[in-house]
Amino acid sequence: MASFETSLDLRSPAETSALARTIGGDLKPGDVLLLEGEIGAGKTHFARSLIQSLLAMPEDVPSPTFTLVQTYEGSDCEIWHADLYRLSAPEEVIELGLTDAFDDSVCLVEWPDRLEDLAPAKALSLAFSMQPEQGRRTLRLSSINPRWAPLLKAISHD
Ligand SMILES: Nc1ncnc2c1ncn2[C@@H]1O[C@H](COP(=O)(O)OP(=O)(O)O)[C@@H](O)[C@H]1O
Ligand SMILES: [Mg+2]
Repeated sequence: MASFETSLDLRSPAETSALARTIGGDLKPGDVLLLEGEIGAGKTHFARSLIQSLLAMPEDVPSPTFTLVQTYEGSDCEIWHADLYRLSAPEEVIELGLTDAFDDSVCLVEWPDRLEDLAPAKALSLAFSMQPEQGRRTLRLSSINPRWAPLLKAISHD
């Protein structure tokens, strides 16, 4: 059960990018974001905007659809972007180094259901939902970790 949660309307890709930059500015080593939602819901769009806002030098942020993980050099730690859609078994994330990265990197994980028991309880979950109107998404953010409470409060009053 999530103890901390809020829902937001994302009325355009630009609004999603702005939220990603706000959240990115609050992240510290060891923070994990689990990005949920169907194909095309906006997980990669959100991750790309967040990562680009943290890079000192502009760099492409491709979807890790086939590589499963892409890593970037942030200012205080590595940033890991994972897409686990094609993961064959949850244990594969240990070999990829992702479970270690959960301890000391900033991690953004698409298709986190593939982690099964390896999903860290400390994470913030972001569930993107498609809407009938083009360009619009809704986002539900939730966690059991009080670390996220101030951020959720701040973004729900923006
Ligand atoms: N409000 C929105 N937020 C994010 N993406 C949106 C929004 N509205 C439309 N889109 C579009 O939806 C697509 C999302 O693709 P992507 O981020 O790759 O999805 P996913 O990684 O969830 O499969 C992009 O083409 C993006 O421009
Ligand atoms: Mg994606």
